[in-house]
Amino acid sequence: MAARRPTRWDDLVRPSLHGIAPYQPGPSLSELKERYGVDEIVKLNWNEGLFGPFPGALEAAAAEIENAWMYPEQAFSDLREAVCRWRDVPPEQVVPAHGIQSLVRTVADAFLGPGESVILPEPTYGLYAQVFAAAGASIEYVPCPELRLDLDEMATSAARVGARLVVVCDPNNPTGSLADQDEWDRFLDAVPEGCAVVVDEAYCEYVDPERRVRREDDVAGGRPVILLRTFSKIFGLAGLRLGYAIVSEPLASYLDVVQEPFNVNRAALAAGTASLQSPEVVEERRLEAAESRELLTTLLEAAEIEIQPSQANFVLARVGVDDVALADGLASRGFLIRAGSEFGMAGTVRITVAPLPLMEKAARELIAVRSSLFAGNAVG
Ligand SMILES: Cc1ncc(COP(=O)(O)O)c(C=O)c1O
Repeated sequence: MAARRPTRWDDLVRPSLHGIAPYQPGPSLSELKERYGVDEIVKLNWNEGLFGPFPGALEAAAAEIENAWMYPEQAFSDLREAVCRWRDVPPEQVVPAHGIQSLVRTVADAFLGPGESVILPEPTYGLYAQVFAAAGASIEYVPCPELRLDLDEMATSAARVGARLVVVCDPNNPTGSLADQDEWDRFLDAVPEGCAVVVDEAYCEYVDPERRVRREDDVAGGRPVILLRTFSKIFGLAGLRLGYAIVSEPLASYLDVVQEPFNVNRAALAAGTASLQSPEVVEERRLEAAESRELLTTLLEAAEIEIQPSQANFVLARVGVDDVALADGLASRGFLIRAGSEFGMAGTVRITVAPLPLMEKAARELIAVRSSLFAGNAVG
């Protein structure tokens, strides 16, 4: 029998996957410690909840491990009811999943076919473009003047290209900017028929309560809105992978058709449900994060570093030096931050907020490394 030539996977996978690079999570912590010769690393690069999980969450996850042999309960009713009590929405509108990342893919599966259009702000969280491009959609970017979402222009673009989806990340990553109620209401009225609005509210719990847009009411009011939430940020459970969508009941059924069954693990469900037994901690954590954000802002501004106003657990800083060299220099001192070049914003860095003493140290180190870069000294 003639030898068969090796399989050409390029010809077999969906053509829309050609040319899309996989998400690069970066080196592991142990690799970084070795590379930079440091014993401890402070992770200010991924916007995780650095104030830790809520009381009882880890214990609940640990207690659930003995049930690991059983599939999770598919209705996820304990978690859904806990979310409903907390957010005052009916359980039928809550669709749990293993994080917003998986929900973005579920939304793509439910809404997008090849060649359909999606509107994204620029800059924003990079995963949307990757997932929607992989689904074969064509992406239209709307710039953010002064780094704030231009919701009017996003609605106009959606009408112009006949978009199926428009994505609003609010507060936006990587800028931390927040849309206000008037902008949001005007936008929702202007979004064309046939277009759904995906709102990624990963950071919404960090927003000052008086500035929050309560979009659950738009879902209840029958507007074409899909809300995505996560336990990865203020709840400090990024490693367990847990999130949920709030959507109208008919859409919840469609999302359940396309998303994998049993897609939330038992430990995550238990930890999420336990976290919501103490909802008052959300406000405590918000205040702590805000205090840290203000301290970091004050310290960096004192060194004439421009900080973008943020309502999230991170800030974007215009550092005026090579951001990659700055991030590298800080890593060698045990602090990871995100270089803006990685998301198309050279000259900026994004820094996650952490408890106050860490902010003081991080600001001191950042200012020192930046000064040495200005002075043209070798860093690291
Ligand atoms: C805007 C935004 N959405 C979603 C995520 C990821 O959420 P999850 O951990 O629930 O997948 C992130 C993580 O950084 C994010 O910045």
